[in-house]
Amino acid sequence: MADLGRRAFLAVLALFGAGRSVLAQGRRRLRFLSLTRPVRVPLASLSTPGRARRFLAQGVSPPSAANPGEVVRVTGVVSRVEEGDNAPERFKALCVICPHEQCDVDVAEPGDLDPLVVEEIGEVTGPVYLCPCHNSTFSMADGSRLGGPAPRGLYQFRVTAVFETHVEISEVEEDVLLFF
Ligand code: FES
Repeated sequence: MADLGRRAFLAVLALFGAGRSVLAQGRRRLRFLSLTRPVRVPLASLSTPGRARRFLAQGVSPPSAANPGEVVRVTGVVSRVEEGDNAPERFKALCVICPHEQCDVDVAEPGDLDPLVVEEIGEVTGPVYLCPCHNSTFSMADGSRLGGPAPRGLYQFRVTAVFETHVEISEVEEDVLLFF
């Protein structure tokens, strides 16, 4: 009987854990809003993976923002993340603002990283985004947080199309327009 009670208790714990995990995944789903006009970055400047190109975008804060309807300017950076054709998924556009205390991140080669950063994130074989203020690091491939005090990965833009001459970026993560 005591065993039955213990099993029921463990089943409830497992259900609770699964529910929390589903909730956490739901929270991670990002919402995107359209920019006031698409940003166009020349394709010729994005031929080499790991080389990032800056751009300036403009959005409008949503109704849920403290100041809705305000024009918000956001600096982004776009890079090719894989060799191959010019499909939109071969490019990644991210906001340069560090989610910790809003310094601008920049590209850092593995040899430029502080030994303490390497100790935290392990050896990296290619460039990463590095925040110079408190050494948060982020993946160039998807903006995810690798280490440091940043509470999350870099805010994201969406590369919505690639044309013969340029990459088009038309959407930005809603949180950027809420908080900046
Ligand atoms: S502002 Fe970027 S790590 Fe603190």
